[in-house]
Amino acid sequence: MASAEAGTHLTADATDPNDPAKENTVFRLAGLIRPMWRPLLLAGLATLGATGATLALPWSVQYFMDGILSGSEGALGVLATSLLLLFAVQGIFSSARIYLLAYAGQSFVKDLMVRVYSRTQRFPLNYFDRERTGELISRISNDTTLIRNLVSNNLVEIVSQVVTVLGAAVLMFVLDWRMSLLIFVAVPFVVAVGAIFGRQVRKVTGEVQKNVADLTSIMEQTFGAIRVVKSFAREDHEQQRFADGAQKVFDASMRQAKISAILGPAVMLIVVSTLIGVLYYGGHRVVVGTLPAGEFVAFLIYMVMMSGPATGLTGQYTQLQQALAASDRIFSLMDTAGEDLDASQNGHSENAEGRIEFSDVSFSYDNGEKVLHEVSFDVSPGETVALVGPSGAGKSTLVSLLLRFYEIDSGEIFVDGTDIRELGLRALRSRIGLVAQDVALFSGTVRDNIRYGKLSATDAEVEAAARAANAHEFVSGLENGYDSLIGERGVKLSGGQRQRLSIARTLLSDPGILVLDEATSNLDAESEALVQDAVSRLMAQKTALVIAHRLSTVVNADRIVVLDSGRIVAQGTHAELMGSSTLYRRLYTKQLGGNQKSSSPTPKNCTRAKSATNSEDSRTP
Ligand SMILES: Nc1ncnc2c1ncn2[C@@H]1O[C@H](COP(=O)(O)OP(=O)(O)O)[C@@H](O)[C@H]1O
Ligand SMILES: [Mg+2]
Repeated sequence: MASAEAGTHLTADATDPNDPAKENTVFRLAGLIRPMWRPLLLAGLATLGATGATLALPWSVQYFMDGILSGSEGALGVLATSLLLLFAVQGIFSSARIYLLAYAGQSFVKDLMVRVYSRTQRFPLNYFDRERTGELISRISNDTTLIRNLVSNNLVEIVSQVVTVLGAAVLMFVLDWRMSLLIFVAVPFVVAVGAIFGRQVRKVTGEVQKNVADLTSIMEQTFGAIRVVKSFAREDHEQQRFADGAQKVFDASMRQAKISAILGPAVMLIVVSTLIGVLYYGGHRVVVGTLPAGEFVAFLIYMVMMSGPATGLTGQYTQLQQALAASDRIFSLMDTAGEDLDASQNGHSENAEGRIEFSDVSFSYDNGEKVLHEVSFDVSPGETVALVGPSGAGKSTLVSLLLRFYEIDSGEIFVDGTDIRELGLRALRSRIGLVAQDVALFSGTVRDNIRYGKLSATDAEVEAAARAANAHEFVSGLENGYDSLIGERGVKLSGGQRQRLSIARTLLSDPGILVLDEATSNLDAESEALVQDAVSRLMAQKTALVIAHRLSTVVNADRIVVLDSGRIVAQGTHAELMGSSTLYRRLYTKQLGGNQKSSSPTPKNCTRAKSATNSEDSRTP
């Protein structure tokens, strides 16, 4: 479980942190439902009222029948009126019940969904490395709905059905104990059949849900990577993969159906055989005159009335099992340790000068392979340090560790002189602005997206950030300016435009430390120039850690750190490293200089020429 690798900043949302998983599901479920006790109790009372009225109906019918048979006209009128009244009472109670149950169920599911979702927001990144988002989404939406059914349907339905069965049974015994005995021989069979199948159903339901989650995950992947699918012309392949997934859902659902198909009729058969037996025996006694016809009819109605809930109860049992399985999964989510954003935050937060220090940092991901080996380096306030190294060297990992997306195995990382484990996640991450290669924007307006960096920012601040990020010009050119919608139904932005919005967003959050992880490597030369221009302005005022394979950023950095296979192999200025580090020279000629037009003898000049064009391009009137 996740708690095994949980660091000091991880906490579980359970009343007993020592042994949350072992706690009985039913008990915990009861705890979840408890806040709903008021509407549930009222609904239960309304149900009792409705059930009482229902149970009284056959009793009146008995007099009705006997009245007909004895030819008493006056009794008929009274009885018709009382029947009508009983129905009215039953109707009022039913309305109250339906409304109260909907209220209890809906507020329950709302609270539970919000609670589980808030929980997931705090899951550490390695959880998302491990688990599929499709599974997570399915848990939050489907499993909570299954539990809602329990609240808004099963609980009270079960009470109602038990009361109906018991009430009818008592009244039947009062009417005629011999016929009643005949029926209650059948009850143990029904119970036995239900118990046998209930266990199976719980297992199969879990399978169905797992397969549905698989299918959801396939859809997410293909829709998310539809360009890849199309560029490889893998439509048929994806279609087949989906069809296989759908087949699995089908197979599991059919196993579930098979169980239900056997269970329902099996119970029905037992019930109907009993009914026929009673019909024969009771009919015989009416014929020979030992049983009044009205009593016989009332008895039959009670019997039918009882058989509904009796079979219904087995269905309720199935749903109860489903809800329990869903609860198990929900509880395992709630028990997953989440990050504690504020807990250990201490008094150092004012000292935000922008200093980074890595000291003998080693790290491996969950798979155990060591990615960083005793890495030590520092960045002084205001300094720009470039991190270079071959792909897979551990550069992005290093950034993740700085933001404490993962916990280091050994060593220490200090930000502004404080160990990041003592700084508090919120305080740490608000000091660092990360601009990465893949830009994630939210659907919403341009303004909302920039404002994500500082939710309280004014429109003027948003615009200022956009100007600084070289984004103002193109945003103003959009039809609705800052109110243009981004995303599926909104405007389509180029990679460079998206990147500039993300820079504006980061700028607005005003971090002391700026981290750029190949922020421009996805862009074409022209977009890159605009982004680069924005970035260099940013870096001038802030401490910056820059991962780049572009010449300009690296050459202009105050210092360059060369990382290879998780180890720092060299540090120095460009000129120093060109002399001392073979790896750097190789990277420089192959990778860093790779997109330069020709092998320029003086890279400094080349850079200058480039930034000169940049500022011309981006100059705003
Ligand atoms: N989330 C992850 N889980 C497991 N291994 C990872 C993860 N991310 C990166 N790695 C591995 O860590 C190593 C360093 O990756 P990374 O830091 O992304 O390199 P770089 O950014 O220098 O290209 C690689 O071997 C990569 O496979
Ligand atoms: Mg990387």
